[in-house]
Amino acid sequence: MLSAPSQLLERNIDVFKDDGWLIINPADAYFTDQLSHLSVDVLHQYYDIYAESARVIPYTILDSRDILNTSTGIFSQQKINKHHHYFAPFLTLPQHYNNIVIYLPKAKAHYSMLIKMAASLVNGSGSIYVVGENKGGIKSAGKLLNSVGEVEKVDSARHCSLLRCEITHQQPSFDINQWLSYFDININGQAATIASLPGVFSHEALDEGTQLLLEKLPSNLRGNILDFACGAGIIGCILKRQFPHLNISYLDVSALALYSTAHTLAESELTGTVMAANGLHGVDEQFNNIVTNPPFHTGIKTDYSVTKRFIADAARLLPRNGSLHMVANRFLPYPGLLGEVFSHVQTLAQTSRFSVYRAVKE
Ligand SMILES: C[S@@+](CC[C@H](N)C(=O)[O-])C[C@H]1O[C@@H](n2cnc3c(N)ncnc32)[C@H](O)[C@@H]1O
Repeated sequence: MLSAPSQLLERNIDVFKDDGWLIINPADAYFTDQLSHLSVDVLHQYYDIYAESARVIPYTILDSRDILNTSTGIFSQQKINKHHHYFAPFLTLPQHYNNIVIYLPKAKAHYSMLIKMAASLVNGSGSIYVVGENKGGIKSAGKLLNSVGEVEKVDSARHCSLLRCEITHQQPSFDINQWLSYFDININGQAATIASLPGVFSHEALDEGTQLLLEKLPSNLRGNILDFACGAGIIGCILKRQFPHLNISYLDVSALALYSTAHTLAESELTGTVMAANGLHGVDEQFNNIVTNPPFHTGIKTDYSVTKRFIADAARLLPRNGSLHMVANRFLPYPGLLGEVFSHVQTLAQTSRFSVYRAVKE
């Protein structure tokens, strides 16, 4: 289904007359189908829409060292007719685009970063469009956009607005590393420096739930471990520092998260396998244990569906006696969901806000 911002773009389809478009983070995989006659590049920072748009890629495995060495920013790409889909935290391609559309992200710092990236990729005479929902903050989105040019409102409908910015301050280049911030944590006697980009969960601070999970994890985890929904890679990094024999993989839907994870590992002189995926959809690797502070927000609405499907998929991937350790807001209905697919579910710890669960497959 076309998302509301895409419906607004569809209403303004006359804007898309010429070639040379870059679309950043479309909220659905369908709007670009309407531009099949034009040459369009699409930057996806989220794997779910990328995999749906690129049609063939259930998940992508990367080495954290390759992520550090990328100069173009591209983790995975797929050409479909006149469209080039990139899954990447950033793009630094030699060509410039005539026009760029940004779907407004949730976090303001993420939006600032995308504006600067877009202003380095657009032609001097080009425009940057921003489309987003009223409840996502589009009404105040013009202020930040003003930093690179003259802003006008093109249209409003479907509780969304479309803004256009004629570039007056083209940026010479974009360096993602200038947007990385670092913070120090100390858990279970392990000090570590965490690297994090705008748009990544708990940007610049450790989450209370993540801390509780790490404090309650048992010391007898063995074999292949999956840090599911790894964010900046905090859980896996601390585990690997505590128990160097563990073989840890890091999975997230967000290229910004995976890029941050690679840098977090490098800060601790560690490396790891990094997986881009939408939940565990299509994943067929085997893991002995899964640890997670899972997502429960997608977009602006609260949504448990990713976690619900993740729990069922986790049970499919774990061997007999394999375990899932998970922290969640204590008011979320997860014990019931875990109990539907795992034979043994235990609450390891509870605070006024969070619960840590251990579920074992027998
Ligand atoms: C609550 S955060 C936890 C991050 C990190 N583990 C921590 O504890 O700081 C949840 C993470 O889930 C990721 N996420 C959201 N939807 C996802 C999906 N469909 N598949 C995989 N990861 C997803 C988000 O990008 C985010 O990094």
